[in-house]
Amino acid sequence: MRDVAALAGVSIGTVSNVLNSPDLVSRATREKVRLAIDKLGWVRNESARQLRAGKSSWVGMVVLDVTNPFFTDIVRHVQDLIYEKGYSVLVGDSAHLVVREAKHLEQFEQQRVGGIILAPVGEISSDAHRLPSHGIPVVLIDRAAESSGFCSVGVDDVEGGRLAVQHLIDKGHRRIAFVGGPDSLVQITDRRRGAEYAEAGSRGSAVLTVVDTPALDVASGAQVARRFASMRGGRRPTAVFAANDLLAIGLLQGLAQAGLSVPKDVAIVGYDDIGFASSTAIPLSSVHQPRAEIGRQAVEMLFLEMKAKAESRAHDQSWSPTTQTARPLP
Ligand code: RIB
Repeated sequence: MRDVAALAGVSIGTVSNVLNSPDLVSRATREKVRLAIDKLGWVRNESARQLRAGKSSWVGMVVLDVTNPFFTDIVRHVQDLIYEKGYSVLVGDSAHLVVREAKHLEQFEQQRVGGIILAPVGEISSDAHRLPSHGIPVVLIDRAAESSGFCSVGVDDVEGGRLAVQHLIDKGHRRIAFVGGPDSLVQITDRRRGAEYAEAGSRGSAVLTVVDTPALDVASGAQVARRFASMRGGRRPTAVFAANDLLAIGLLQGLAQAGLSVPKDVAIVGYDDIGFASSTAIPLSSVHQPRAEIGRQAVEMLFLEMKAKAESRAHDQSWSPTTQTARPLP
């Protein structure tokens, strides 16, 4: 910045005004400074500037799986909303691993992001619990955080699971499979619990078989499909509720490759209602997760918390405790 000022023949303060408050500087001076910046190829150190200002224009997001459109749709909605506020998003993929989630949270704290939107891997980590006391608010998505002291936004996965299996029962299916795992994700075990409620409501007319998978991806769905295809017709489920759409797409792929017809031989219901689910060769039924609304609510809560933190910081700075000197007792 000093070199730019010298080359342009202006003060450092003028260079700063050209960058931060250009309307305070004449067009001719702005032009001189811009030319000097271009000639020197200078780029200001935004991180250092934000650190000095004590204000970041970054929001961190940690999602479970960037290959899952459920999360990338939410990232896009968050990004569109915060762009209007002059912020950008740093996205980290935990890939369902606690160590990766912890690394991203540590790096976001070092970058002094203004706040973090987190889809937690399992239990809410001690790293996540530490951040608000370090001035970085955290809002959870895809998780209800009743007792953890965090704001959170998600859907009622128990009801979602119940709706999916009730739909299949209403279609006349009696041998139904729930496909999905791992059990470490509460959103998955909630969906399974809802499916079990629907089974119980059928008063024995429908039977639910639970098939765990190592992951919530297309390959795991295709693997279960091959297992179903090897069953005799009379034992095979006539319908499947897949815990998310990636599993459902894998099931569709595997059953078709095995020569089975969907929905004639096996009906499939997925969860999330991602774009791909409705654009497959046979459009999949899916329980809709309102990703735009989840993103909007998360941003709204996060910025309320960021504003509150900024105000409390300002109060702490403006309020300087008076030092009372006790008078020595006679
Ligand atoms: O990440 C696994 C699943 O949990 C996603 O597909 C979405 O349904 C989320 O709630």
